[in-house]
Amino acid sequence: MGVDGSSGPLQAPRGTRDVLWPASWRWELLVARFAALAQRSGFGLVLNPMFEDVRVFRRGIGDDSEVVGKEMYELTDRGGRPLALRPEGTASVVRSFVQHRPPVPYKAWYVTPAFRYERAAAGRYRQHHQLGVEALGTDDPDLDVEVVALAAGFIGSLGLTAVELAVNSMGCADCRPAYVALLLAHLDEHRDELCDEHRERYRVNTLRVLDCKTDACRGATAGAPRLVDHLDEACATHFARVLDGLTAAGLPHRLEPRLVRGFDYYTRTTFELAATALDAAQNAVGGGGRYNGLVEQLGGPPTPGIGFGIGIERVLLACDAEGVFDPPAPAPRAFVVDLTGGTAARDLVAELRRAGLGAERAYDGRSLKAQLKQADRSGAPLALIVGPDEAAAGEVTVRSLRGGGDQRRVRRADVVGVVVGAGGGVGVDDDEETTP
Ligand code: HAM
Repeated sequence: MGVDGSSGPLQAPRGTRDVLWPASWRWELLVARFAALAQRSGFGLVLNPMFEDVRVFRRGIGDDSEVVGKEMYELTDRGGRPLALRPEGTASVVRSFVQHRPPVPYKAWYVTPAFRYERAAAGRYRQHHQLGVEALGTDDPDLDVEVVALAAGFIGSLGLTAVELAVNSMGCADCRPAYVALLLAHLDEHRDELCDEHRERYRVNTLRVLDCKTDACRGATAGAPRLVDHLDEACATHFARVLDGLTAAGLPHRLEPRLVRGFDYYTRTTFELAATALDAAQNAVGGGGRYNGLVEQLGGPPTPGIGFGIGIERVLLACDAEGVFDPPAPAPRAFVVDLTGGTAARDLVAELRRAGLGAERAYDGRSLKAQLKQADRSGAPLALIVGPDEAAAGEVTVRSLRGGGDQRRVRRADVVGVVVGAGGGVGVDDDEETTP
């Protein structure tokens, strides 16, 4: 019996995954690369709690977006407070903006787990991880272009090429209601053609039908009016500027009037990046858009906002599918093999690390053979061997673990310099770009 009364060995909960070393190396690089790109575009890191007052995500009646309505992990803490594990980053960032009121424009990036009680599948998890940005305080369409360019540029920087950028405009609180009424009238006429789920629900969440992937709903909405044709003048002008900017930025994109994203806060520009090498049901590697009403909904002053979230797991699946972004895990610059049973390894490893070099060693006084095997497995280009002979002579044998296995004896006092001079090694301290 397990501790919770179930039988079998303990495992990570359904829909969650462990990422062990060295598979996690790609995560490190991905986050570092995103941080660098975001910083270059003026975004600084924001950290928010993993759980929030449930009202941060459920903001009142009418919020029956898929994620918030059906998939949120909700809990009550010991003090009786209703909380939710964050299903996404945006609402938390906005809540913290409203709470602290930093000067605008406020541009923040984040890396965060997100929790959704979904039907687990390849590429769809109950805990996934997002890299994202949020920019608050301006409605300038140039910023929309910058934000889309940042997301697309990051994806492109990984070497992914089979990625499509779809964009749409959701209009605003002024022009959308009239459009929804038109769409509803269309759906009333085609009610019997809708899929089972939407035949029941199309009156509650009308826009969502446009995004339904079933043939039934696709057929029923084929001739439906398009939101982009019913934007008011301000929204239409804004969207035209965004499309124009994307073209000027050399970003191939497709207008997708059916694009309706999974949260109810979107206004104006929305976009999604789809990796065509992945299964269509889970091929969105990132998405985002404007949410010009969200700050007010969370109790702040009228403040426009825009951002995106990129799913780390999905990006890596797409990289696997395209055979890109597969960097070798970093290796130490040198592996110290100590056959003296004394302090040689302890002191030499410490000295190398103080000099900024990645250094590793074996423990527990293992045999020469076992230590060399471990040295090989570590990927270090050099073994620094200290046997009784070397110790007596005040020397170290430096053996190349690549190629012919050349070796030479150097003075103990010179060994750090020799390792530095050998360079070219795969060092944890090396810049990733120079890692072979
Ligand atoms: P989202 O489209 O729900 O948007 O999620 C962003 C990305 O997270 C998706 O494109 C996908 O790559 C990944 N993702 C979502 N759910 C899962 C899952 N169950 N398993 C694996 N990956 C998943 C948002 O969350 C918005 N907060 C984005 C945003 C930011 N909009 C404005 N600002």
